[in-house]
Amino acid sequence: MDQPWWQKAVLYQVYLRSFADSNGDGVGDLRGVIDKLDYLDWLGVDALWLSPVTVSPDKDWGYDVSDYRDVQPVFGSLDDVDELIVEARERGMRIVLDLVPNHTSDRHPWFADARASRTARYRDWYLWADPRPDGSPPNNWRAAFGGGPAWEPTPETGQMYLHSFLPEQVDLDWWNENVRNEFDDVMRFWLDRGIAGFRLDVAHAIVKDRELRDVPNDYDKGVLVDIDETFAVLRRWRGVVDTYEEARILLGETWVMDLERLARFYGTGTDQLHLAFNFPYTFAPLEAAALRDVVEGTRAVFPPEAWPVWMLSNHDIPRFPTRTCGGDERKIRCALLALLTLRGTAVLYQGDEIGLEQVDVPLDRRRDVEVEGRDGCRTPMPWTSDGGWSDPWLPLGETTRNVEDERADPKSILNFVRDVIALRRSNADFQSGSYEPLEAPDSVWAYRRGDSTVVLNLSDEPRAYEGTTLAPCGLLADEAPGRLDRRPLADRDPHLVPEDLLERRDVRVAGIRDCDDDLVVADPAHGDGEHPARDLQRKHPRDVEIERGDGQVDVLELELHRERPRQVALEQPAARDQLLAEAHPGGLAVRERDVELLGRDQAAFDEDPAQHRPHLVREERVIQPRRLPRKAEALAQGR
Ligand code: NOJ
Repeated sequence: MDQPWWQKAVLYQVYLRSFADSNGDGVGDLRGVIDKLDYLDWLGVDALWLSPVTVSPDKDWGYDVSDYRDVQPVFGSLDDVDELIVEARERGMRIVLDLVPNHTSDRHPWFADARASRTARYRDWYLWADPRPDGSPPNNWRAAFGGGPAWEPTPETGQMYLHSFLPEQVDLDWWNENVRNEFDDVMRFWLDRGIAGFRLDVAHAIVKDRELRDVPNDYDKGVLVDIDETFAVLRRWRGVVDTYEEARILLGETWVMDLERLARFYGTGTDQLHLAFNFPYTFAPLEAAALRDVVEGTRAVFPPEAWPVWMLSNHDIPRFPTRTCGGDERKIRCALLALLTLRGTAVLYQGDEIGLEQVDVPLDRRRDVEVEGRDGCRTPMPWTSDGGWSDPWLPLGETTRNVEDERADPKSILNFVRDVIALRRSNADFQSGSYEPLEAPDSVWAYRRGDSTVVLNLSDEPRAYEGTTLAPCGLLADEAPGRLDRRPLADRDPHLVPEDLLERRDVRVAGIRDCDDDLVVADPAHGDGEHPARDLQRKHPRDVEIERGDGQVDVLELELHRERPRQVALEQPAARDQLLAEAHPGGLAVRERDVELLGRDQAAFDEDPAQHRPHLVREERVIQPRRLPRKAEALAQGR
């Protein structure tokens, strides 16, 4: 079976309020995201996860929902969501929405009804209990925000309701079948519009202990959760999304720091969450042993079919370039390289791709409910050196790292991230290859993905690894802190037609076309006896014609860039599967542009090119499939 899209994917988290503001009101919006789709497409991400778009009084910035089926006016409208889905899809990207099933806003009409009387229609959609005789809460559960009791009294009926977070975020009673049915419908409402799935808020704690028993002393959460029943709900949701033809995903916010507990959120590996956020990895220090332990520990305890997901930052935790890298650009690159080359889905938080740091938001500008506050990781995305915002809702931080400048600088973090994503897309090793740890010196993390190897020197000293000296993180700006070897290319000339393309049984390369549009090689696999690569090199061809199993002939245009001829090799012009099998209706997505990755070490390359294999020249274009011209068609058919 083909590997599903979400396993190969790089997801990109859009924190909507701070991503891009299309109408100058200081708050990011859906049209702003639409305006930035070309940028995200250029970056190479596969799907966007948007923080809640639904209607909310914004006590917790969207995570207190008062209408699950409409859009918060400041963000736009349902039409904008629809347009975003279509526009993204046209660029080969998908949209994942945030769903907040654990609690509603206290302003949700269900709760307005529920609190009015004990016999109200929606009363049992929430969790109610009588206070103790002395007026204190019914048990020792504590709210995540503020740390006070998780129970709020209501004068209307004298009972208290449960809120795991703010009093304005009222926990739903997930033992109630009506609640479950309602959310099945809410999910379908969005899935039917064409979204690719949900990021599930608080996925680790949906169903509460039915008897509302006290949490034990050593319990690490404020509210006692019935985990088996929570899993039952996850299986139910999986049943809902699995009724859709094209895979839709459930990406769970699973705040558990124990890998065995995390593994249980996957169920058998195919019946609960598709992806469960791995917070132990997020919070591991940037040290070889620590990261390796989490990755190997994850592999050891996950069911065979479970697929990991890695993330470094999000809208709730301090940004990783500050938190684990101390702002050091080389460490930032190492962290990003690991994120994007590990076996699993990768999630970038907006700004990660430019190495955006945590912002120290002045007290009088803070907007978060939390005392310490999460504003510092939620500040507006700096698009230009002056930010590109007018009077934003949160202040911009340092804008030295901004999209415009980094995009123009081939050596920037942004171009580095783009290059690694391009590599990941084009090399099957990084999509499906197994992860194998390799012996490495102290503080060096080395692993194989399929036939490719990633080596990261996370120490403060140079380290030798198999004949290469790896510069220490954070010291020598011109040297490479790591190395990435792809499949051996030793016996390949530059500008080869990808061998695996030729080897595919269901695909035949029908011909190679030169700059003048003349067919220079017909059926190169059985051509004039010469290796087609030579013809390619001689003729500087432009196109490869690919005949698919169904007889349809597609033309893949190859523009071979020669900026740095020695460093240019055409290994795989595009991920085969994407290129050949899943060609979306508009054409084939092909990327070719120079990828230098970690090979910034020109001297070392000159010394021993074999150790520093060239990286791809890639440029993103959509190629329209077209029929072969008659002459070529005849040639391809051997006439
Ligand atoms: C997790 C969300 O990411 C966070 O922002 C929110 O405050 C809590 N869940 C409560 O919904």
